[in-house]
Amino acid sequence: MKGIILAGGFGTRLYPLTKSVSKQLLPINDKPMIFYPLSILMLSGIKDILIITSPRDKPSFMSLLGNGENLGISIEYIEQNEPKGIADAFLLGSNFIKDDSVTLILGDNLFFGYDLVSTFKNAIKDLKKATIFAYPVNNPSDYGVVELDKNNEVINIEEKPENPSSRYAVTGIYMYDNSILDIAKSIKPSERGELEITDVNKVYLDKNHLDAVIFGRGVAWLDTGSHQSLLEAGNFVNIIEKRQGFKIACLEEIAWRNKWISSEKLLEIAEPLKKSGYGNYLIDIVNQNND
Ligand code: DAU
Repeated sequence: MKGIILAGGFGTRLYPLTKSVSKQLLPINDKPMIFYPLSILMLSGIKDILIITSPRDKPSFMSLLGNGENLGISIEYIEQNEPKGIADAFLLGSNFIKDDSVTLILGDNLFFGYDLVSTFKNAIKDLKKATIFAYPVNNPSDYGVVELDKNNEVINIEEKPENPSSRYAVTGIYMYDNSILDIAKSIKPSERGELEITDVNKVYLDKNHLDAVIFGRGVAWLDTGSHQSLLEAGNFVNIIEKRQGFKIACLEEIAWRNKWISSEKLLEIAEPLKKSGYGNYLIDIVNQNND
């Protein structure tokens, strides 16, 4: 299973914040936004990752994350010249995906909650053709919306419907088998000129190949699309981290707990990060483990 993080776009809804910085590099409490979707891929056990960015922001992402070696993973980068749609990720990423299956996660999506990791791991294990993840929200019209029958089989899926048929939003993480490459090639741009991920999912649905996993109330799926939601996501992470003393989406910790990097490596990474407290956190988790 390969992983793609889509972190391009112009971020115009967050101007002037994003006039010179990628939206997916903005802070969510103590980390850049992209740490959160990257942590989800890593927690799911995915080690081969492609990050799609705008040409302007590619050097910044590369200087933040490098080739992934420090995290025991492989990170490649590719530019998306303009935001042509979420499904463009599979056209851009076809040489990276090769003959594998792929998980796509949007660079601005934040997931946190009970049983999340086993949910994603099981979904990867059980992947047949395509799996989407739905979450109940108050404002379904702002998202892709999925209609389910009483056995949670998908009946219909629509992009930002005026009159949504359910409160289940399609979240920004998607898993596909290798037929995604042909399907992404086959879809045409929508009225707004984008290759819509919902159109990809409709192709799978028409063949009866679209599965949905429903997140329960114990999961938080947060949006970072507006100034308000950006602040709220930061506050959310701050409250949990302060209360528990554990960090959310601490990539180095995840790599270490997955045994992808050694304790010595973690301590080496921690050293220059000590001033912010992030490094001390890493040192503490190694020491607590040795106690
Ligand atoms: O967040 C989940 C929602 O994401 C789904 O419910 C919708 O079905 C799906 O269409 C998408 O809706 P958005 O309106 O949130 O998509 P947006 O255009 O804002 O793109 C999401 C992120 O992907 C954004 O951070 C920028 C990035 N992106 C987007 C496009 C279209 C790219 O990097 N390149 C692109 O071409």
